[in-house]
Amino acid sequence: MTSSLVNKIKQRIQDSGPVPFDDFMQMALYAPSEGYYCRSDSPLGAKGDFSTAPLFSKYFSVCLANQVHQICHTQNWDTFNIVEFGPGDGTLARDLLQHLQTINAPLPKQYTLVEKSEALCLRQQQKLSTIQTDIKFNWSYPFKDMSPNTIVIANELLDAFPVKRFEMTDKGLMEIAVTLENDRLVEVLISPSPMLVNHLNWTQQRLKVSSFPVGYRSEANLGLSLWLKDLSQVLNNGVVIIVDYGYPTAEYYHPDRTMGTLLCHYQHKSYDDPLIRVGEQDITAHVDFGHVVNAAIEYGFNYLGFTTQAGFLLGNGLLDIPDVANDVAQVQMLTHPNLMGEAFKVLALGVSETPELQAFSIVDHSHRLN
Ligand SMILES: C[S@@+](CC[C@H](N)C(=O)[O-])C[C@H]1O[C@@H](n2cnc3c(N)ncnc32)[C@H](O)[C@@H]1O
Repeated sequence: MTSSLVNKIKQRIQDSGPVPFDDFMQMALYAPSEGYYCRSDSPLGAKGDFSTAPLFSKYFSVCLANQVHQICHTQNWDTFNIVEFGPGDGTLARDLLQHLQTINAPLPKQYTLVEKSEALCLRQQQKLSTIQTDIKFNWSYPFKDMSPNTIVIANELLDAFPVKRFEMTDKGLMEIAVTLENDRLVEVLISPSPMLVNHLNWTQQRLKVSSFPVGYRSEANLGLSLWLKDLSQVLNNGVVIIVDYGYPTAEYYHPDRTMGTLLCHYQHKSYDDPLIRVGEQDITAHVDFGHVVNAAIEYGFNYLGFTTQAGFLLGNGLLDIPDVANDVAQVQMLTHPNLMGEAFKVLALGVSETPELQAFSIVDHSHRLN
């Protein structure tokens, strides 16, 4: 546990009382130089705490490159740009661009990396310095106006946004916060913020339920609609591809999922206590894709499709990649229903564009969204 970070959190509690869980998660993950993602030693990959699809296998980025190529081709874009949010250590960007080079496909004029962590920006710069190309790389956080014909990629971005946590009690809805007891960080229930109440009322309307049962706990990712709102204001024309683990709303808030989806990752094992190893373990929550789609439509995006990661990769030619048959373990990891194949979903949105994406040509899960 990084004691200076914990001391800062304790000080804040002493100064102004319990800290809502999303503020605690923001500090634990993103406090400058001490938060989990902002430390100089990268937590990603085989030697870190968790791996992501592009780190497991370059075939993920190869298929994404095929999707990028198909969009540019069907939309007749002479030039285009890519903006990647939360690019981790830069592996996806490197492998995607190298595949476009390999198949002699048009390359983006600019590739912009939007990254919150300065430490990870440095890792991305190192990784991309190995590519021989004229593409202009930019680093930008927060993000700015995007040129026309932009493809936005967000792989495992939304699961890393701080979430609010709540519990339904016999006295009504309460928000989970963090406080101090005998100098230890512990949970406490506080009155819910108006934004949480509004969000859950809207969610319950969509679910057509009047209340969650007493004892029910879950999360609400309020940051994701702000992200979509900001994106809608700077992206005038393009396509957004979001990949993450998550569920449609009815499955996310299923009555049996009484403890929510919040998880911590440390040295490739999962834990359920976010108040330990502060700054040394990842904290993450699944994504409510019904929330993403409904918020996106409200902000003017066009819905283009929803599928599983397996469907996305198969639709983008995974099995046609030369030599893929020699890498059965990687294909299984990416597509098997019990591994990443079904837990991860892919959602695509358009702004002033409605291309038919080959990603959804084999498996389309639109009917599951609400
Ligand atoms: C779970 S990691 C995923 C890394 C990478 N996309 C991959 O698949 O390997 C989440 C990434 O999102 C970044 N991040 C979190 N919130 C962000 C935000 N609001 N804007 C940009 N990047 C963000 C984190 O610093 C980290 O790089």
